[in-house]
Amino acid sequence: MEDKKVIFSGIQPTGTFTLGNYIGAIRNWGSLQEEYNCIYCVVNMHAITVKQEPSKLRKNTLDAYALLMACGIDPEKSILFIQSHVKTHAELSWLLSCSTQFGELSRMTQFKDKSRRHPDDINAGLFTYPVLMAADILAYNADLVPVGIDQKQHLELARNIAQRFNQRYGELFTVPEAYIPEVGAKVMSLQEPSKKMSKSDENPNACILILDDKDTIIRKFKRAVTDSEAEICYREGKDGINNLMTIYSSVTGKNFDEITSEFSGKGYGDFKLAVGEAVADHLAPIREKFAQFSSDKEYLKKCYTEGAEKALAYSQRIVSKAYRKVGFVDKK
Ligand code: TRP
Repeated sequence: MEDKKVIFSGIQPTGTFTLGNYIGAIRNWGSLQEEYNCIYCVVNMHAITVKQEPSKLRKNTLDAYALLMACGIDPEKSILFIQSHVKTHAELSWLLSCSTQFGELSRMTQFKDKSRRHPDDINAGLFTYPVLMAADILAYNADLVPVGIDQKQHLELARNIAQRFNQRYGELFTVPEAYIPEVGAKVMSLQEPSKKMSKSDENPNACILILDDKDTIIRKFKRAVTDSEAEICYREGKDGINNLMTIYSSVTGKNFDEITSEFSGKGYGDFKLAVGEAVADHLAPIREKFAQFSSDKEYLKKCYTEGAEKALAYSQRIVSKAYRKVGFVDKK
């Protein structure tokens, strides 16, 4: 693990991932493994900032882990682990919280949104969520952090915290950069293509889950909202078709011109069916691998135990230095 830049990213255990999570993030995580030292984490500690059913959280965490493996993250090549297994995250989070201002956290739009959505549970963890996220990243001196646009503000805060700590106590943390993929960064709702595809959408047809079966996928694509023209091309104002073209392009590797000529003279019905089939074919092996990994509890356990050991060894060096810098007495 030398010389290469370090990538860190985390994903919340929300049950299953959407096609949007997959195309916009997780798929790229796998392809970064050769070029970088990759560290990926299922952030179950972040998850409890909103109410969780404990047995469900446990299952969702293991499913998320198995799903990441099914999506091509190889625990031999990357460090893949569960956040709560590695104590340095909470430890560093406390240190960093003392270098974070109340005002900064109050300005986080995600905090404001979530407080509005859960007015009966505006807990301190929800407020300090971005500090724990900064700890995740800084504990590994990550250079690059693949995140969606919605996490950019949190990453900006992590940078500020790193700089402030370094100024106050002397150079220690790498100031991380956001790494936002160029293509397929955003997959939109199939029902309201001006909105991001989201699992929490009330309309189940709006969102493809990566464990959906073939029939479900095709049915959802057949119902996708398009426009009243009959032209398959990427153009402003054609949100629905643009979204389908983006999805089709990212699972087949074809560019927009190729797609336009492939479907010239054909109708939207044919196109939607082709997109549905291409997506279903693309996701089928992931579904199979997920079934295999999640049923092999022993193997899964071996992977996440070893992942946690590697993550601890890696982050402990950095967090110990941070302890020393702030003036904590050495244990031995
Ligand atoms: N907050 C991120 C999200 O909801 C998840 C996350 C937690 C994360 N820690 C991280 C992402 C560290 C990148 C790096 O998407």
